[in-house]
Amino acid sequence: MCPPTFFDVRYAINPWMHPEVPVDRERALAQWSALVAAYERAGHRVDRLDPVPGLPDMVFAANGATVVDGRTLLARFATRQRAAEAAAHRAWHERFGVLYGGLEGPRLAEPVAVNEAEGDFAVLSSVVLAGHGFRTSPDAHAELAALTGREVVGLELVDPRFYHLDVALAVLDADTDAVAYFPAAFSPASQAVLAERFPDAVVATAEDALAFGLNAVGDGRNVFLPPGAPHLRAELEVRGFVCVEIDTSELLLGGGSVKCCTQEIRPTPARATAAHE
Ligand code: ARG
Repeated sequence: MCPPTFFDVRYAINPWMHPEVPVDRERALAQWSALVAAYERAGHRVDRLDPVPGLPDMVFAANGATVVDGRTLLARFATRQRAAEAAAHRAWHERFGVLYGGLEGPRLAEPVAVNEAEGDFAVLSSVVLAGHGFRTSPDAHAELAALTGREVVGLELVDPRFYHLDVALAVLDADTDAVAYFPAAFSPASQAVLAERFPDAVVATAEDALAFGLNAVGDGRNVFLPPGAPHLRAELEVRGFVCVEIDTSELLLGGGSVKCCTQEIRPTPARATAAHE
């Protein structure tokens, strides 16, 4: 995660961003810190990426890289405004990849096609769901499949307000493939794929989705999400999830919330076992 030290809305690359609305950076930092504290209370380790002046969207660390089983596909941003963020993520993964990566095989892959990492890749136990339509190119789906050996299922996003997969679909439990999503954000064909593969999914309402309720992080037990998604929250609680609400109102000015701020490191299975011993 990357603190919003230089967070700002100076350009508009999604419909939520309005450069004329001032950002309260101190408040953004307090909200971000509350999210970090909530993760740590739940037993998650949080590593920090140094923020870079002049890169106001860096707080949205989910877009920087995708790590599956200790193998990392670096990002290649769709917009020139964010392009330079990729180098900061590359440097972090070059340095720390030895800690979570396997001893054999490639640890780091340079992206060829545009991919905005976990903004558009949702990693489940056997498959990776991959958004396209606004940012990530379908060609990048094949790159992730080649690197990780996972099946990558493409899903087409059709509503510019839901420009990344992670604002339209949330992973609640990656081990059991439990997800929540907002159908109308997807093309009819992709809605059919989701309905067939995830018959037990939580179906979010427009209110849930517009409040960024799906921009959530689920660890199988807790779901960290912003307030304002009462229907989604009730559905999650019925299923036994503990909802941890974090106010991200300031970060929403950039078009992101909980999940956007969070890049998840999934170590190689051998390392994950070692960490528990
Ligand atoms: N302002 C950023 C952008 O438009 C927000 C990124 C949100 N990140 C995400 N994972 N959805 O690129």
